Amino acid sequence: MTPVRLYVNIDHVATVRQARKTDEPDPLEAARAAMAGGADGITVHLREDRRHIQDADVVAIATSLPSPLNFELGASDEIVELACRLRPLQATLVPERRDELTTEGGLRVSSRDARLRNAIRRLDEAGCRVSLFIDPVLDVIDAAKDLGVPAIELHTGDYAHHWREGPAALEQLRHAASHAAELGLAVHAGHGLTYLNVREVAAVPEIEELNIGHSIVSRAVFEGLEGAVRRMRGLMTAARTGSGRP
Ligand code: PXP
Repeated sequence: MTPVRLYVNIDHVATVRQARKTDEPDPLEAARAAMAGGADGITVHLREDRRHIQDADVVAIATSLPSPLNFELGASDEIVELACRLRPLQATLVPERRDELTTEGGLRVSSRDARLRNAIRRLDEAGCRVSLFIDPVLDVIDAAKDLGVPAIELHTGDYAHHWREGPAALEQLRHAASHAAELGLAVHAGHGLTYLNVREVAAVPEIEELNIGHSIVSRAVFEGLEGAVRRMRGLMTAARTGSGRP
């Protein structure tokens, strides 16, 4: 089975800094620590309201680290423009509502959405691998395929809320991942994944990449970011290879 990549989302390092609008903790330093702990790449979400990551953070991470960068963004002109200038390896388009606590649902995908189509085209022309953050629903996956993107990220929020109640949410994810892979899409997943619920998702063979932030940054408060990433990496690898608890 192919290994599963771990992209560490460091937004919440910036959340702590923005609580005081000072210069620590530094997301760039966090990105270095995450890579030292075994991450395959770094994810940042530059929100329109700039509540955590700032433009200067994305520029610093994109220009001074060799690590692969997954830039999450809404389809707003200004942020798409910045992504096109920085040309990260991957650009993941996400829905954005200012009043939400976090990204609460997947993108509404429609080939009639000119703003979305335009953002995909510009990012693709800039050389980014474009991914769409969508719910694990078959006709949404079909609509993403119709838009011509090479990759999707399945929203695991529903699984994260309901995994203790039975296998239904995991089954939905598995089914969605296999459908997307059959269509030739690269399948990523993320949102709400934790040290307790990651194994089942990391074991889904079609899923190539997980984006995990809040749980890792939370664990880092107690054991440091490098160790927290190493622990997550170990769980994912063990789940993928069927070797049990690391
Ligand atoms: N993937 C996407 C598209 C997201 O918007 C987020 C949250 O910013 C994540 C993954 C990571 O979610 P979490 O912080 O719950 O691990």
